[in-house]
Amino acid sequence: MSVAKKEYKRITTKTLVDMKEKGEKISMLTAYDFTMAKIVDGAGIDVILVGDSASNVMAGHETTLPITLDQMIYHASSVVRGINRSLVVVDIPFGSYQSDPKEALRSAIRIMKESGAHAVKVEGGKEIKESVKRILNAGIPVMGHLGLTPQSIYKFGTYTVRAKEEAEAEKLKSDALLLEKAGCFAIVLEKVPAKLAEEVAKSVSIPIIGIGAGNGVDGQVLVTHDMVGMTYEFNPRFLRRYLDLYAEMTKAFEQYSTDVKSGDFPNNKEQY
Ligand code: KIV
Repeated sequence: MSVAKKEYKRITTKTLVDMKEKGEKISMLTAYDFTMAKIVDGAGIDVILVGDSASNVMAGHETTLPITLDQMIYHASSVVRGINRSLVVVDIPFGSYQSDPKEALRSAIRIMKESGAHAVKVEGGKEIKESVKRILNAGIPVMGHLGLTPQSIYKFGTYTVRAKEEAEAEKLKSDALLLEKAGCFAIVLEKVPAKLAEEVAKSVSIPIIGIGAGNGVDGQVLVTHDMVGMTYEFNPRFLRRYLDLYAEMTKAFEQYSTDVKSGDFPNNKEQY
């Protein structure tokens, strides 16, 4: 059992800020369904992200843009039914918060009310400041997301490392301060140089949770399907695979097929 699992009965946004203060690292993984959420929560992972990466992983889309608010709420409510301890954060999907703060608030309220999740996540800094404030004013905790923000992939044109140039690094640093000042409880920092990420983590009192952002931040997040090796096409440098489930599952399915076709399954003990 992990240290944090023993110490904290239920993870709240305040727990995460306390963990940063104490220098305890925060673990975060994605889940999009009840069964996976139950395993992730049971393993003592602090935060479960119902990421809009469900658009890629669950629905097979090329980007995160097509997933809808209704689909995110469906995934989030399934995850919430599977957890006891983890904090559940849900991505507000593309097109449900960018146009104006009132729409952002309406989307956040729907997620909280209809799924039972604990917080929402939005991508961007200065551009979405008013939406972040509006959501926070309604009492809904907000996690920010800076660096590589996949909802803007068509603006970036590529999934390569962000903020290598001075101007973008400066904007990122000021966006992190802005999100902290607005009241965000944490920020995901995706695919930026480790040195910059460490600098950002030191400059704010809220946790910075990295993905491809090095080890100088306050926690780490990975997409669960990638880290257990259910996906195999995606191979960024930052990804550590803890299992090769694609190969294991393929072997099991092939064996099942062989057993069915040969008449070996079911045997006498496997029938009524
Ligand atoms: O949607 C997602 O899974 C994410 C993580 C990659 C941080 O935003």
